[in-house]
Amino acid sequence: MMLRSIKSLTASSSSHILRRGYASEAVPDRKVAVLGAAGGIGQPLALLMKLNPLVSSLALYDIANTPGVAADISHINTRSEVYGYSGEAELGKALEGADVVIIPAGVPRKPGMTRDDLFNINAGIVKGLCEAIAKHCPQALVNMISNPVNSTVPIAAEIFKKAGTYDPKKVVWCDNPRCC
Ligand SMILES: NC(=O)c1ccc[n+]([C@@H]2O[C@H](COP(=O)([O-])OP(=O)(O)OC[C@H]3O[C@@H](n4cnc5c(N)ncnc54)[C@H](O)[C@@H]3O)[C@@H](O)[C@H]2O)c1
Repeated sequence: MMLRSIKSLTASSSSHILRRGYASEAVPDRKVAVLGAAGGIGQPLALLMKLNPLVSSLALYDIANTPGVAADISHINTRSEVYGYSGEAELGKALEGADVVIIPAGVPRKPGMTRDDLFNINAGIVKGLCEAIAKHCPQALVNMISNPVNSTVPIAAEIFKKAGTYDPKKVVWCDNPRCC
């Protein structure tokens, strides 16, 4: 899904005339930000984005442990530059100029937790992150992964509507991160 999202962004900015692709042809710069990048889903997602030739800049943000994850991921010899951002004070910098934002931040459901418990924690996290997206990269395509997605996606939509930045074509979600 993420590959398709980035491809459609690329396609929408190119000519309407079908063009032949050459290996040497320049690929436009695309910045992807992963919020919650140090987590169980965030790390493999960051790896997938580092392997994606359409990505030129990869911003990895989390409340902790991001510098180590960014250092590990940056060893992969692909086109994109990797930057790690840690803590709320660096969230704006992570998001500045992002074309795509992927959100696997939050907690997964643990034994004994209800979906309401999960909602109560992740709703607040997603709200804060979406407010920052509306401020720092209002044009970005947002891919929600934090559960429960049937609640976190509407929260994102409402935050963007309130900020006047909502575009229904630019809020997507994922019910299986392997599809990214
Ligand atoms: N949509 C899907 O298909 C799917 C699949 C698997 C997991 N998930 C969801 O993805 C989320 C993450 O799962 P996980 O296994 O990676 O959990 P995890 O606990 O391993 O990682 C979550 C990460 O989010 C970070 N985080 C917490 N608050 C944050 C904030 N305010 N800003 C930035 N980062 C923050 C944590 O520091 C941690 O690194 C959960 O909500 C889980 O339910 C969704």
